[in-house]
Amino acid sequence: MNRLKNKIAIVTGGNSGIGAASVKRMAEEGASVLITGQNEQRGSDVVDEIIQSGGAAFFMKQDVGSKDGWKEILEACQTRYGVPDILFNNAGVSLAKPVTKITPDEVYWILKTNVSGTFLGIQTIISALRDAGKSGSIINNASIFGLVGSPFQSIYSASKGAVLALTRSVAIECAQMKDGIRVNSIVPGSIWTPIFTKESPDGGKSLIDVAGNEKNAKDLIAQHTPLNKVGEPNDIAHAVVYLASDESQFVTGTEIIIDGGVTAH
Ligand SMILES: NC(=O)c1ccc[n+]([C@@H]2O[C@H](COP(=O)([O-])OP(=O)(O)OC[C@H]3O[C@@H](n4cnc5c(N)ncnc54)[C@H](O)[C@@H]3O)[C@@H](O)[C@H]2O)c1
Repeated sequence: MNRLKNKIAIVTGGNSGIGAASVKRMAEEGASVLITGQNEQRGSDVVDEIIQSGGAAFFMKQDVGSKDGWKEILEACQTRYGVPDILFNNAGVSLAKPVTKITPDEVYWILKTNVSGTFLGIQTIISALRDAGKSGSIINNASIFGLVGSPFQSIYSASKGAVLALTRSVAIECAQMKDGIRVNSIVPGSIWTPIFTKESPDGGKSLIDVAGNEKNAKDLIAQHTPLNKVGEPNDIAHAVVYLASDESQFVTGTEIIIDGGVTAH
């Protein structure tokens, strides 16, 4: 408890999956959290849960790829809680499709959300922190597919590789500016979230459709994971709390891989 006491956080895509688990853990540790995302009902459900547990949170609908949208998010955060200390750039979209079938619109959608969205978040919060003379922690959600190849995930992999590269360069830039802002990536393997249950935008099948049911889908992932199980959103949320807190004050420009051993194999 209280590892994030008096800290203010913005979590994009905090209304679902990894983001929702992370905002709940952050609130348990004392942070006040602005949750953003696309689905207002899910956002309000997460806020209700946090407030009922005695935490502080509110939700705003956001498209992370919009620069104007980021201005509104920052202003709302400053009005309600103050200048944010923590940004978890978590929002992301995936696409499972053969490389020859991916359309220019899909390339734009993935890069706009996963890369531009992360960049705009970084740019917005660094400007605000420097203006306020505050230090801070930025955490970017990448993927093991930014480290290793994955068939049918080419543009998603490219976007997550970009998140890792962006993290390292901005971290070193901040260190050179001596602004006290740390920037790190989280690198999840397969974590059981709604990302696995959605149909792909081209009408393709979700993993559950391919495997037959949820149990078979989880078994399929476990078979390809040295620890022989699927990750849970809290596996990521615990690491996010660590990177957000002052416990990680000597950690910047790096990535924490949480994948059940997949990339070590
Ligand atoms: N689940 C996994 O196995 C896994 C593995 C590696 C990386 N990730 C990454 O974790 C992050 C969270 O994914 P998840 O698994 O929790 O899936 P999810 O679908 O539950 O969450 C995605 C979130 O992103 C939000 N979002 C999507 N587009 C947005 C936009 N334009 N603007 C603002 N919000 C937007 C959604 O509202 C949702 O809250 C993503 O970046 C994903 O790439 C997930």
